[in-house]
Amino acid sequence: MRNIALDNITQAAADSFAGVPDARRRLLLQQLVQHLHGYAKATGLTHDEWRAALAFLHRTGDISSDSRSEFSLLSDVLGLSSLVDLLAAAQAGAPDATPGSVLGPFHTAGSPWKNNPADLSAGNAGQVVLLRGRVLGARGQPLPQATLDFWQNADNGLYWQLDPSQPQDNLRCRLQVDAEGQFAIRTIRPQPYQIPIDGPVWHDVVEPAGRSAWRPAHVHLIVQAPGYRTLVTEIFDAEDPYLDSDAVFGVRSALVQRYVPDSSSDVPVMTIDFRLASVQAQTPA
Ligand code: BEZ
Ligand code: FE
Repeated sequence: MRNIALDNITQAAADSFAGVPDARRRLLLQQLVQHLHGYAKATGLTHDEWRAALAFLHRTGDISSDSRSEFSLLSDVLGLSSLVDLLAAAQAGAPDATPGSVLGPFHTAGSPWKNNPADLSAGNAGQVVLLRGRVLGARGQPLPQATLDFWQNADNGLYWQLDPSQPQDNLRCRLQVDAEGQFAIRTIRPQPYQIPIDGPVWHDVVEPAGRSAWRPAHVHLIVQAPGYRTLVTEIFDAEDPYLDSDAVFGVRSALVQRYVPDSSSDVPVMTIDFRLASVQAQTPA
């Protein structure tokens, strides 16, 4: 095509992907072109702005490594990670299922298995608390085959990977629930903490907007059971001051819980039941 002009370049660029054999991949590429061109047209994107955006993406790549994905952080602070979670939940066709939330950068495979109930509190400063609950199926039935992968930060706000003063695998574990689908984890109350503020996502995107770097205190969980969709989620402390300004849009009201005194425990208890969506509930794409 030799007559490329403002009124046909978008169609020409989209059509150039018409030969991509996989239909889904073709759709993703053609829609990407349409929306990028739409953005450039709607904003009247200038050369300087376009070059600045490319330089930002270069810096984002330069600071990334095997242990740090600045691109994931970019997706998080733009709300894209949470949007993908919300789309997946809507597509699962299980409105009563526990909502998902961001995985974040501090999940590492190979967490140690512990007996249920587990005690992760030893050697940690902070307020000792008990998290307990059940893993349930779509009809509210216990799922005794379920497993949990759990991780959280320490009283100083840091995850063990970033803090040489913590032992390896501090405040994380995998657990098998019991015959009633129940689990209990004695641990310390997690603390709010900041997303990384030493990279281009903070300096060029979040800080100039006057936004907060803080994430409200939370624990992370991956809940799995055969025949059910894997749930990647977080549970937030209802008393946290940053619940309404989470830097990565992870908070859902169903994921906010309270630590309360309980006569059956010597420490405050947070009760959390996880309801999983069955694989069958999924509507075809
Ligand atoms: C976290 O929850 O650990 C986290 C999530 C997104 C960005 C940074 C940290
Ligand atoms: Fe986290």
